[in-house]
Parts: sequence; structure tokens; C-alpha cells
Amino acid sequence: MSNKVDAFVVAVDGPSASGKSTVSREAAKALQVMYVDSGAMYRGLTWKAVREGVDVKNAQAVIDMMGGVNWEIFVEDLILRFTIDGDDPTDHLRSEPVRERVADIAVIPEVRQFMVDRLRETATFGSLVMEGRDIGSVVFPDAAFKYYLDADPEERARRRHLELLETEGKGNVDEVLNSLARRDKIDSTRATAPLQIPLGAVVINTTAMSIEDVVQRIVADVNGR
Ligand code: CDP
Repeated sequence: MSNKVDAFVVAVDGPSASGKSTVSREAAKALQVMYVDSGAMYRGLTWKAVREGVDVKNAQAVIDMMGGVNWEIFVEDLILRFTIDGDDPTDHLRSEPVRERVADIAVIPEVRQFMVDRLRETATFGSLVMEGRDIGSVVFPDAAFKYYLDADPEERARRRHLELLETEGKGNVDEVLNSLARRDKIDSTRATAPLQIPLGAVVINTTAMSIEDVVQRIVADVNGR
């Protein structure tokens, strides 16, 4: 899996706003290993489609576009980053047009295969914490550490709504609930690599837990084994 002695993978999966991103970033920091946000790669490709006016429901058009994309993937301050055709898409990845289309791009098997290959390659950089939907099930089924974070839908909508208020200054909690439910449904019912609890994963329900508690739980577990 990695060319470095003692390198390990921590796979963190779960639905949107289950706390995955913040927890994974903080756990990677505490463990002093690289952090990889796999969703950012799916979002990056979606951003490219939006920019080029490619219909994300047209799988062939997405696949054709994907073939011409130049990805540069690199590590900066222990965070995996990338550029697409020379542009850094970071500021656009959580925009409305991207978040409403990303799940449709992520159902395309060829897109998934491409991302899985890129994500596996990142392990050559050393130990890492990677978050996503299929990390413990498909990308790294042999990961030494697997976690599945979940939370009640209302709590997840509340968290995402707060994030939106911070980043966009607006947001409607019912709309957020509907948008999350729509994405959950696409993610859990797709034919290729649906969102599921990976075999051997520790399930953590974060509804009533603070971020620090969840991070602590994972870090203590990894350090203790
Ligand atoms: O932050 P949030 O959990 O809402 O989303 P994300 O992790 O950035 O992922 C965005 C979307 O990308 C998900 O809803 C999935 O459709 C897709 N995705 C995936 O299919 N597989 C992954 N490993 C990561 C993301």
C-alpha cells in the first residue's frame, strides 16, 4: 500500500456533515500525517464541468472532458492539494453549482475508477488520514484503521446550515436538509461503490459529540493499537 516502512492509512467514511472533514483534518494534525479530502477531487472535476458547461448527467460528455484534464497533485503542509489545468479550484469547491452536481458526477463508474487510482497513489507519500464515502470499502479495504461517522439528519443539516451562514452569509435549514437528503440518496443507492459502513469499521455516532471528542476517540484508538 505504501513504500514507507510503518506507513498506515486511517479511512474515515460517512455521509455529508457527519463531522468527517473537520475530524479527519484534526486527527491527521494530531497524528502528524497527511490529510486527504477525497470529496475535493470529485468536487474539482465537477467544478471543471460547470466551468465548461458540461451536463453532469451526460456520462459520456463528462468522461470525454475528464480525459483532457491535467491534474497536478502535490502535498503542502501535510495536506494533499491539486490544481486542474493549472488552476487552484479550492475556493469554488463548496459553491452551490458544485455541491448540487457533485453526486451526479460521482455515480459515473469511469470517474470513480479514475479517482480511486489517484487516491491510492497518494499513499506513496506516506501515512495518511483520508475521508470520503468509499475509502474503507473500496480505496483502501485493507486500511489498518477504519471509521464510519454518522449523525442524525437534523443535526447534520444544522451543522451544514451553520457552515453556510459562515461562508455565504445565508442559508435555509429546510433547504439544506432537502439538499443533504437528495445527495445521501444518490450516494447510498448508486451501483458503484455506494456509501456503506465498510467491513471492520468502527461506527461513531457524532450527533451529541463535540469535534474534539471524536478526534480524541480516533487518535487514542490509532495510538493505542
Ligand atoms: O463535505 P461533504 O461530506 O458534504 O461532501 P464531500 O465529502 O466533499 O463529497 C462530495 C460528494 O462527492 C459526495 O456527496 C459524493 O457524491 C462524492 N464522493 C464520493 O462519491 N466518494 C468519495 N470518496 C468522496 C466523495
